[in-house]
Amino acid sequence: MIIANHINKQYIIENYLLLFTVYFNKNLEILETINNFNVICFFATISGHMISTKNILSKAIHFHTLNKNEILYILKEKNTKMLFYMANKIRKEYVGDEVHLRALIEFSNYCIRNCLYCGLRKDNYRLVRYRLEPWKIIELAQKAKNCNYKTVVLQSGEDPYYTTKKMKDIISAIKSLDIVVTLSIGEKTFNEYEAYRNSGADRYLLRIETTNSILYNKLNPEMNLKNRMKCIEYIKKLGYEVGSGIMVGLPGQTLESIAKDILYLKSIPVDMAGIGPFIYHPNTPISLKTNSHGTNNAFELSLKVMAILRLLMPWINIPATTAMETLNTQGRLIALQSGANVVMPNATETIYRKYYEIYPGKICLKDSTQYCRFCIENKIKSINRYVSNGKGFCKKTK
Ligand code: 5AD
Ligand code: SF4
Ligand code: FES
Repeated sequence: MIIANHINKQYIIENYLLLFTVYFNKNLEILETINNFNVICFFATISGHMISTKNILSKAIHFHTLNKNEILYILKEKNTKMLFYMANKIRKEYVGDEVHLRALIEFSNYCIRNCLYCGLRKDNYRLVRYRLEPWKIIELAQKAKNCNYKTVVLQSGEDPYYTTKKMKDIISAIKSLDIVVTLSIGEKTFNEYEAYRNSGADRYLLRIETTNSILYNKLNPEMNLKNRMKCIEYIKKLGYEVGSGIMVGLPGQTLESIAKDILYLKSIPVDMAGIGPFIYHPNTPISLKTNSHGTNNAFELSLKVMAILRLLMPWINIPATTAMETLNTQGRLIALQSGANVVMPNATETIYRKYYEIYPGKICLKDSTQYCRFCIENKIKSINRYVSNGKGFCKKTK
């Protein structure tokens, strides 16, 4: 246990306020869950005598809130055992042992954007481009349904070929198959988001990537953080389930900036939070040397971010991201045991998979939709979890 002399008054006041709020609101549900030992630990933390991982985690578990410095403390902590154990426990308590599968259909790798980190950026002339016709996308969704998927995620680069009319037709055709539709097609106007929503789209994924505006604007030329945030607001306002998230290990990204990202995701609040490690792509302007955290660290750090999000937003859906498995052969299973409850297996036709090269080393490039479905279910069963039969909507977002 570390004795901290540096805890300031504001910190103590903030935590006392939290406790008083809970008492005055007579939030018995929370109070009942606190056993005496934890209360003692918590008082020790707020009285400013002891700041330790255990005390911070205790606060997170019972109040689902942490301030930036506490998050930073956990992000810096080398011993991750307790964090992952607690995230797994809270996951089980709030969203159970079921794992929701989402079939990922990567329908176009054309992109008008030039994000410095991404293999699909328009200036990557070495990439062979493809785009699927609407009828083909609908056919892939039908195949996903035949494999017992309840949700399809339609993902692409930002490709204007898919006009609002085309997207509306695709969405309504897939909805008529009784499948939940998630879109992941980037920044659009309010009217476009509204049109997709009116055609039946249920969820939208748009990662914020980083909330550090200097970093964001540097890595995403001709884009800006303000507009990204606005898009997320639109999506929320239109009643979509909101999926957002960040990349971890971006060059120039600090732990403090990640702590702020976590607080941003909580402030929305998102229904789904996808956290992926940044993976260096040689055909992008980002040099390998500039990766601030190093590749190995990006995996561990992504897990930590994911686990903290589970403690702060126990009800949300958290995917074990594919990029995690690229960095660690057991990455998705490790993630599922550290707070995650969703997996997004690839349901793109095998021949196109290798061209959707956001980053190198993607998994499942030679496998079929049927095989991935079979493979992931076996993996999930191997850790005593099971594939959900439901549609997997977020149970509650406070
Ligand atoms: N490594 C890991 N993830 C990446 N993404 C883009 N480029 C990379 C990369 N080099 C992620 C972004 C984007 C999502 C579709 O892929 O977070 O939102
Ligand atoms: Fe396009 Fe998305 Fe890649 Fe940026 S991250 S280049 S918007 S596909
Ligand atoms: Fe694709 Fe295992 S999930 S091969």
